[in-house]
Amino acid sequence: MTPTHGSILLADDEEKILKRLGRALRDEGHEVVEATTIREAQRHLGERSFDLLVVDNVMPGMTGLELIRELAQTAAAERPQIVMMTAHGSTQLVREAFKLGVEDFLEKPFEVDELLALARRAVKSLRLQTERQYLISERDAEFNYYGIVGRSHAMEEVIQRAELVAQTKSTVLVTGETGTGKEMVARLIHHRSAQRDMPLIKVNCAAIPETLLESELFGHVRGAFTGATMTKRGKFALADGGSIFLDEIGTLTTAIQSKLLRVLQEREFEPLGAERTQRVDVRVIAATNRDLKQMVSDGRFQEDLYYRLNVIPITLPPLRERREDIPVLVDHFVEKHRQRTGKRIDRVDDEAAEALQKYDWPGNVRELENTIERAVVLATGPVLTTASISLLGATSTPAPGLPSMRLHQNLEWVERETIRRAIAQSGGVKKDAAELMGISQRALSYYLAKYRID
Ligand SMILES: Nc1ncnc2c1ncn2[C@@H]1O[C@H](COP(=O)(O)OP(=O)(O)OP(=O)(O)O)[C@@H](O)[C@H]1O
Ligand SMILES: [Mg+2]
Repeated sequence: MTPTHGSILLADDEEKILKRLGRALRDEGHEVVEATTIREAQRHLGERSFDLLVVDNVMPGMTGLELIRELAQTAAAERPQIVMMTAHGSTQLVREAFKLGVEDFLEKPFEVDELLALARRAVKSLRLQTERQYLISERDAEFNYYGIVGRSHAMEEVIQRAELVAQTKSTVLVTGETGTGKEMVARLIHHRSAQRDMPLIKVNCAAIPETLLESELFGHVRGAFTGATMTKRGKFALADGGSIFLDEIGTLTTAIQSKLLRVLQEREFEPLGAERTQRVDVRVIAATNRDLKQMVSDGRFQEDLYYRLNVIPITLPPLRERREDIPVLVDHFVEKHRQRTGKRIDRVDDEAAEALQKYDWPGNVRELENTIERAVVLATGPVLTTASISLLGATSTPAPGLPSMRLHQNLEWVERETIRRAIAQSGGVKKDAAELMGISQRALSYYLAKYRID
């Protein structure tokens, strides 16, 4: 069932009419905001979105038609449906109003029931329209590389390669700096493969304590170690028939590296404490932001395993090397977070767009998305400006001046700034960032939580 209750902005300078219509609409379950002047209506329209605008034409100051002309400038998907009330509408007025996209007219005096019927119909058609758009965007997601935005030459190549490898069962190694979209590519590969209906199991190798990782991946039998009170299936077993996504593969210990090598070579392994060998049919997609080749030279990563993983390499270029993707990504994230917050954001002003274009993005697409999200959430008007976007927390060139004259505020700002940069410089690896700053990892965790940096 399509719901037929909507949000309605009702504008009329005659308070008595306004109250009566407002009450009737509310009784029907609609949410109603009333305005006695066009200026007031404009203010409401600037602050939030409505399903339907019911506006009287003749009002003191600006007329309803003038407001409608103004609304006609905004994208169709962003403006409410419009019903116009008139006492004596000339043919010319009616014609222009229809041209501007007005849905319907109510000739004063009219019965309240007429308005209720119009409102019901308008809200319903809007809902159907949104539903249809949603279905279309879902379908787009499927045909549109699962939300991977950016059509720079480098990204085209990445997507093309991902599409090709999806048709095979080969092992894939996805590399690239933090936040470049490695996980998105892994998902794309699985969802385009013949195994798409089978599970895609993700394991973040860095997030699981070393002592537990082996059992997490390969499972264990009861009594395999202290605390193993039950037999547990590992992620490889769970992914059987589908894909396993091994994230942060560069953090694996030597012991686990060997076991993984065997799975890749023989497609078999033994759960911890088990006597029986288990066979699996799993496609492995591994990802890392580290330089595995370098790790091999340093003796920190098994050479055999590296070659087994690196059958099909896919490298995601950092955002600063494909700046032509920045504008589309900005649009994409503004739209995404605008929808999420229900706020009205029309555009990013030129100065801000330029700053976004020039910035170095050490945290890549993730940092860009976080920046836009913050800007949308904090925005107080429909235009995102340099002030609202604030690359402050993230500038690579020295940030212009201190934020205030308050000592404690400034100290916190310096702390946050230092941490952000250390994290960016160490490619998001906490251990390295802590070392860089000369503090313990525990201390770093505390600061990260304090400043909500992830
Ligand atoms: N090309 C893109 N189009 C749209 N969104 C993207 C793109 N690339 C990355 N993102 C977004 O950026 C964020 C980070 O992406 P993802 O998790 O895939 O990065 P990652 O390379 O795995 O990073 P990490 O190394 O830190 O794990 C996600 O929220 C993702 O939606
Ligand atoms: Mg990732």
